[in-house]
Amino acid sequence: MVSDEHVSMIPAASKVGWSVEVNGREFTDEIESGAILLDVLRDQVGTLGVKRGCDMGTCGCCTVMIEGVARLSCLTLAGETEGCKITTVEGLATGHHLAPIQEMFSECGGSQCGFCTPGFLITSSALLASNDSPTDSEVKSAIDGNLCRCTGYQQIVEAIQAAALILRSGSKRNDGTAAKLDPHPGFGDSGYS
Ligand code: FES
Ligand code: FES
Repeated sequence: MVSDEHVSMIPAASKVGWSVEVNGREFTDEIESGAILLDVLRDQVGTLGVKRGCDMGTCGCCTVMIEGVARLSCLTLAGETEGCKITTVEGLATGHHLAPIQEMFSECGGSQCGFCTPGFLITSSALLASNDSPTDSEVKSAIDGNLCRCTGYQQIVEAIQAAALILRSGSKRNDGTAAKLDPHPGFGDSGYS
């Protein structure tokens, strides 16, 4: 007599412990030994701001910071990040206050449908953390792995340069928000209001 019990031909993946810091909070769980970071962040950590675009390393939507370096989470084994500090787009704001890069994407029209935006924000943040005075060429080079089908990129470059200006000037207001910036200031105009 043939049993109707299903016997999988593929052995179940082994589980391993995984402890990281995501957006300043400790996270510990078991993950499959070959799990992809993108899947773990979305399905187990719950950081749904990490977007799945191409799932093959070409769109940049899944970019996160690992120890301050922008990396594609769809091409990263979660196990490689054991003990690391991971920052997703959810970790950029301070409490209810958006980071300057987030405010400037909004001000400059750097985001339209928004699907690519988390990846751009993370890539830009990593750039500005290491270089707060990038040339336009350096900005374009930094974001050349991030694809956007909506904006045409010019507004994104402007947003990153506007955020860089804020970071250089240290122009945080006392209430913690970034100073208001005219994204298209004239010559001799600081652009702040
Ligand atoms: S989903 Fe990772 S690069 Fe597109
Ligand atoms: S804002 Fe729509 S893909 Fe970039």
